[in-house]
Amino acid sequence: MKKFHNRTELSYHIDAIKAKGKSIGFVPTMGALHNGHLSLVNKGLSQNDIVVVSIFVNPTQFNNQEDLVKYPRTLDADVSLLKTVSDTTIIVYAPLVEDIYGGNIKSQSFNFDGLEREMEGAFRDGHFDGVGTIVKRLLEIVKPDYAYFGEKDFQQLQIIIKLVELHHIPVKIIGCAIYRAEDGLAMSSRNEILTQEHRDAVPFIYKTLKTAKVKFGTKSAQSVTEWVEKQFKQQPLLELEYFSIADTKTLKPVKRKSTKKTYRAFVAVYAGDIRLIDNIALN
Ligand code: PAJ
Repeated sequence: MKKFHNRTELSYHIDAIKAKGKSIGFVPTMGALHNGHLSLVNKGLSQNDIVVVSIFVNPTQFNNQEDLVKYPRTLDADVSLLKTVSDTTIIVYAPLVEDIYGGNIKSQSFNFDGLEREMEGAFRDGHFDGVGTIVKRLLEIVKPDYAYFGEKDFQQLQIIIKLVELHHIPVKIIGCAIYRAEDGLAMSSRNEILTQEHRDAVPFIYKTLKTAKVKFGTKSAQSVTEWVEKQFKQQPLLELEYFSIADTKTLKPVKRKSTKKTYRAFVAVYAGDIRLIDNIALN
């Protein structure tokens, strides 16, 4: 498997592939790869000749330094896992912070038409400036035909679609369904650092989202929200940060339901000091 740490060498290699008329798919990740990531890689391989997977824990998108330090880093295991998918058609780009940011570890400031102010944006100051900065930079380096993002981070996916549109970046963004563990927990690199006690408690998150979806069929967003908040209060190991039923386009909380609009329920929960997010389509 080809592995690059240096963006100039990677670009050179990609240019040679493109010169042969081959298409490039791109899956940006922060590593600690799991089946959720692999589902994106497989989708990429089904639509492209080559898939570039970047593995980079991006410092500028962490609003909490402790979270950045704790974030799992497992490059060797990640490469081995990718090899089980394909040894010949996947390229890994695993840069050091220096290769991306030089000496200046700072975010660019973005306006994503307000998408960046809702939910994760409201609770994680500067997070989407960091995400926008790294994804724009990576898209410029890799120059893919298609780039794959998970609906697990639905707000991020919408923001990347906006980023590409506003900055005229020539790539097609493909959204991919949430990949879940058997007990319903959305796969996440952070699941690996949960204590066993918390791991046993967290399937409650998706279970509650599914019931919220059923309730939303007949009840108002406010009453469903109150019900969800009450359920989490009864869970000693979980602390709800937010639950929001929002319009899928604007990500703004729904005030009055309309049959012409589509909605999703979004949740952020602390299990001990590990923060998890999840979401579900409601209609
Ligand atoms: P990371 O959390 O590693 O996720 C990389 C990609 O995998 C994202 O598009 C994310 O939505 C997707 N993903 C993660 N878990 C998933 C699951 N269970 N099902 C489907 N897709 C899943 O998201 C990031 O990294 C970073 O913000 C990044 C975009 C790489 C920028 O640094």
